[in-house]
Amino acid sequence: MKIVFATANPHKVAEVQQLLGNAFEITTPRQLGYAGDVPETGATLRENALQKARFIYQQFGLPCFADDTGLEVDALNGAPGVHSARYAGTGKNPAANLQLVLKNLHGATCRTARFRCVIALIIDGNERLFEGVAEGEILTEPHGAQGFGYDPVFRPAGHSRTFAEMSAEEKNCLSHRGKAVKLLVEELRIRN
Ligand code: IMP
Repeated sequence: MKIVFATANPHKVAEVQQLLGNAFEITTPRQLGYAGDVPETGATLRENALQKARFIYQQFGLPCFADDTGLEVDALNGAPGVHSARYAGTGKNPAANLQLVLKNLHGATCRTARFRCVIALIIDGNERLFEGVAEGEILTEPHGAQGFGYDPVFRPAGHSRTFAEMSAEEKNCLSHRGKAVKLLVEELRIRN
C-alpha cells in the first residue's frame, strides 16, 4: 500500500519507514511533484498535524498522514511546544533552536521535558489522530550525532544516552514518534 507522508524531513521519513515495514511504501509530497510549502499555522500540535494531512489529501486524494512534534520543557512552562520548529526565529534553524533551549535553561536544576508527537491520518476521507510521548530531560550540552533537531540534548528517562547517541532502531523503540507510529500501524493493518 502506498501512503503519503506529508513531510519534507528525510529523517522523519527514514524513522517512520523503518516502523511501517515493507507492507507500506511511503511517498512524500516532493516525490509526487509538489515543491511548495505545506501550511502549518495551527495553535496546537493536533491542529497542525490535521492541517498538513488535509492539505496533502486535498492535493492528491491518496491515503496520507502528517506528524507534528513539540518539545515541552517544564522549567520553560511547556515551551517551545508547538513553536519548536521556529523557537529561535522563522528560519527554522535546528541548531539555533537547540542553543536557545540551552540558553533559556542556563542554571536550571529542574530540566525535565518531553517530546510529544501527534499523527493525523486520512484515508477515504476519514480522519484519525494518534499521539506518542517520550519523557526525559534536557542536558547542559549536546551529545551525539545521530537523529536530528533537539535529539543531542534530550536524554530519555531511565537511559544514559541522548537520542542522538542511539541508533535509529533504539530511538524508535523509545521515542514519541515511534509510539505514535505504532498506533498508526495498527490502524493501517486493520484497513489493509
Ligand atoms: P515538526 O514536527 O517538523 O514541526 O518539528 C518541530 C521541531 O521539533 C523541529 O525543530 C524539529 O527539528 C524538532 N523535532 C521534531 N521531531 C524531533 C525528534 O524526533 N527529535 C528531535 N527534534 C525533533
